[in-house]
Amino acid sequence: MQAALEFKQIIFILLATFCVISLYAEQVQEWEKLSQEEEMELDRQLKLINKPPIKSFQTEHGDIIDCVDIYKQLAFDHPTLKNHAIQMKPTTIPKGIRNESETIYKSMPYIPGNIRCPRGSVPIRRTTREDLIMAKHIKSKGFNHPRKSHAKTSGLDLAGYHSAVLEYENRIVGGRATINIWNPVVNNAKQYSVSSMWIANGDAEKMNSISVGWAVNRALYSDNKSRLNTYWTADNSHSTGCFNTFCPGFVQVSSKIFLGLPLDPVSTYNGPQFDIAVSISQDFSTGNWMLMFSDIYVGYWPKAIFTSMAEGANFISWGGEVYSMISDLSPQMGSAHFPEEGYGKAAFVKQIQVIPNIDLSGYGDPDEHSLKLYRDAPHCYDVEKGVDKQGHYIFFGGPGNCTFQV
Ligand SMILES: *[C@@H]1O[C@H](CO)[C@@H](O)[C@H](O)[C@H]1NC(C)=O
Ligand SMILES: *[C@@H]1O[C@H](CO)[C@@H](O)[C@H](O)[C@H]1NC(C)=O
Ligand SMILES: *[C@@H]1O[C@H](CO)[C@@H](O)[C@H](O)[C@H]1NC(C)=O
Repeated sequence: MQAALEFKQIIFILLATFCVISLYAEQVQEWEKLSQEEEMELDRQLKLINKPPIKSFQTEHGDIIDCVDIYKQLAFDHPTLKNHAIQMKPTTIPKGIRNESETIYKSMPYIPGNIRCPRGSVPIRRTTREDLIMAKHIKSKGFNHPRKSHAKTSGLDLAGYHSAVLEYENRIVGGRATINIWNPVVNNAKQYSVSSMWIANGDAEKMNSISVGWAVNRALYSDNKSRLNTYWTADNSHSTGCFNTFCPGFVQVSSKIFLGLPLDPVSTYNGPQFDIAVSISQDFSTGNWMLMFSDIYVGYWPKAIFTSMAEGANFISWGGEVYSMISDLSPQMGSAHFPEEGYGKAAFVKQIQVIPNIDLSGYGDPDEHSLKLYRDAPHCYDVEKGVDKQGHYIFFGGPGNCTFQV
């Protein structure tokens, strides 16, 4: 028993170490060419990450979905989750304003109908070699830094990183929003374009954060699709955290919705709009951060993997984020149209709500005074906010194709 636990700790340290190695490798621009030792390390990691499946599915999108024993998923390799009791259901589901009948109808196209995992197992997208190499690579690019200022102090290269978001700086234990789906063009595998909600806490060096939304990320998924995308870290991406289920952390509970899920159909300019409701909130009794996707409980990030986010958070933002190499023309954000074009044309996030305290069991409107818009390149990507009877909303995005100076 003791030996088994130690083994898990070693795995965790290995995974963490590899992040640092690859970050270094990336900095010297050699991340594409791996040495034989690195290749072997990669193979070893893939064996650790991809748990033996009970059953597997090949999807029309080219993914392999493994049904893994819920008790044997990667999350439990995390050293703080040794004797973790899986939380099969949220203690309470915080109420929001969203019209449920509308939600179910709109989410239907995204729920994979043909993936049926045997009882006691959960669907997990299989991590490929390329995924792993690139996941480490873009992680070092400061993904999931709600603000550039956080990243600057950590020494990450964020010259090609831009965002257009609504920020809320105040105590929260949950956030939710309805995000509409687009499929912006990214020009190469070193660019990404995302639309997300970020929750964070702690000082810049040790920032804890979780984000959820959709991403077009050719590096991560080797395609141009918009996919359900998450990221977490407990130390500003120094040695903890990852996308989706690339490292021990997120506990998958849903038998239907998995991280990395392709979101197809997407909205069309001046045509039908498609959206998803996402929420992350800290469970009333366990303190775990629960992920809901259009009112379906997907799983959670255990309280035990965080430091400052063990007891709430103090920052949340909603909107768009892009990254490209400084030498490239920047990718599109959102619908590739500016916010001033409005509904049906620009990307939106609506029904923006927060839970201020764990003792209040529902969502409410964020305090107006703590909301502010942030964009670092408004000529290229912009954001506007407003309020309607469903609460606060933003339109954001832009055509990209900009060049920036270092
Ligand atoms: C919810 O949406 C449905 C379908 O769009 C509509 O028929 C219903 O009136 C809405 N309910 C409320 C309370 O807004
Ligand atoms: C992604 O889209 C670009 C252009 O929009 C295209 O050149 C490329 O082949 C696509 N890649 C994949 C993997 O679909
Ligand atoms: C992007 O900008 C370049 C020049 O900077 C131009 O040649 C190209 O046509 C532009 N592309 C789009 C899609 O606007």
